[in-house]
Amino acid sequence: MTTSVEKLAQQFTEKNRYANFGPCLRKIVVHGFRGLQELHVHVEHPITAISGINGAGKSTLVQLVSCAYRKPTTAVDYKRQYVKNFFPVSPADPTPILTDARITYSYETDDYRRHQEVTVSRVNSAWSGYKRQPERYCYYIGFTVYIPKVERRDLSVYGGASLKMNERRELDPFIVSQMARIIGLDYQEVSFQGVSHKDKKSEIGIASRLGSSYSENNMGFGEGRVLYTIDLLEKSPEQSLFVLEEPETSLHESAQREFARYLIDVCVRRHHQIFLTTHSSVMLAELPASSRKLIMRTQDGVLVEDRISATQLRSALSDGWVRDYIVFVEDEFAKCMLTEAIRVSDRQLLRQVAIHEAGDVDAVRKAAILLRKVGKLAIAVRDGDIGDSISEGIFSFPGCSAPEKVVFSHSDVKALLKQKYDLDVDWLMRKNNIEDHHQITAMLAHEADTVLEVVRTVSIECYVSANLTEFKNLIRQISNFFQRAQG
Ligand SMILES: Nc1ncnc2c1ncn2[C@@H]1O[C@H](COP(=O)(O)OP(=O)(O)OP(=O)(O)O)[C@@H](O)[C@H]1O
Ligand SMILES: [Mg+2]
Repeated sequence: MTTSVEKLAQQFTEKNRYANFGPCLRKIVVHGFRGLQELHVHVEHPITAISGINGAGKSTLVQLVSCAYRKPTTAVDYKRQYVKNFFPVSPADPTPILTDARITYSYETDDYRRHQEVTVSRVNSAWSGYKRQPERYCYYIGFTVYIPKVERRDLSVYGGASLKMNERRELDPFIVSQMARIIGLDYQEVSFQGVSHKDKKSEIGIASRLGSSYSENNMGFGEGRVLYTIDLLEKSPEQSLFVLEEPETSLHESAQREFARYLIDVCVRRHHQIFLTTHSSVMLAELPASSRKLIMRTQDGVLVEDRISATQLRSALSDGWVRDYIVFVEDEFAKCMLTEAIRVSDRQLLRQVAIHEAGDVDAVRKAAILLRKVGKLAIAVRDGDIGDSISEGIFSFPGCSAPEKVVFSHSDVKALLKQKYDLDVDWLMRKNNIEDHHQITAMLAHEADTVLEVVRTVSIECYVSANLTEFKNLIRQISNFFQRAQG
């Protein structure tokens, strides 16, 4: 049976895309907004999930996304978003945007090889380009989509005693079942009840469950927010554009997961395009790789990393404190060697791995296999003389003996230690009669009048750089293994 994820991917293939999603957004280039000098975002899926740390520029991007389309000519009671709505200039905020700020939107056309491009830019103090945009309903669902009526002293609260009940809008049972699955509560019915007090009118959400009914004034915050968001996604015209700001807000973990599944489902049925911002690795893990993007502000400007994994996100958002990839090695020397090999081959992977010393060769293998049994992403990297078993997640260092032996017998390392510390490694090995390779580094450090860590670091750096191709190959295999294991 085809899953919703597969169906959506199928609907979004080059040949099917325009028929299903119309002139959807394919690329956005942002220049000069809130310190974002040049940001390029390529859209690869109907759902684009933008993650990143606070202040990365997620909202800036999606706010501009919500200004991408002209108001449909047939629209009534609908207000489109303009750039000026999101970037007010005032004495408190003199330069949220540069004088040459602009956004270039690329839209799908009936010929998938040619996009339609429209640039919205500032001419004097006004913005030009809006008229060339295609038409579409766009909804920006920010944090105010659901503010509990009790907090804003709505008429259903202050007029409670004399509230008049008007017409009722029942939600489709299918939508109710979706909401029930997300929140994890078994609703019999959900509806919006029209209410009025004097000359003022409003709507209030009502849920029936376990034989009793309650209005949104007595709902949980997550429940209310999901109700309002789903209602908009379901009652808007098909092929609308939705921007959802941090939809995980106030949802527990499994509700976040179910909500992500629901978004996939609603796109399959109603062909919306969705952009969401998120800090939730749970939501991200539920979306396909082509949806997931990470924004980072770096010294070289703002970067977008496509197809980020949920693990990478957790590591990026926790500043490296959460590391979901676990690697076991035998001892500290092996740990330093692997760390250096990853650093020079794949700097981003280094942030995601926790490398642990397991003790000996058997313990390394057992620890990795045990942790994988309990659902962790764990592998082992053993010394070069033991060999690998990649299908089991057991890797091995280049070389054919213990790391200390291969490092300190390498001619480049010997030359470096001679030049830096005037050490003759071969002679010192004979002189000190070293039989246990675990003692080599300490002996050399003593002879060099320095500490063990220094000799170990410079020697490993030298050895890894002399064997870079083999180490890069090992790290690539490890990274591929983790990605496959994650699905
Ligand atoms: N005038 C400005 N010049 C340079 N940078 C600015 C300016 N105004 C705002 N910023 C930057 O923009 C950031 C806010 O951007 P944005 O709201 O898009 O971030 P975000 O990724 O959505 O963050 P959050 O996760 O907190 O919602 C600020 O933290 C600041 O670093
Ligand atoms: Mg934000």
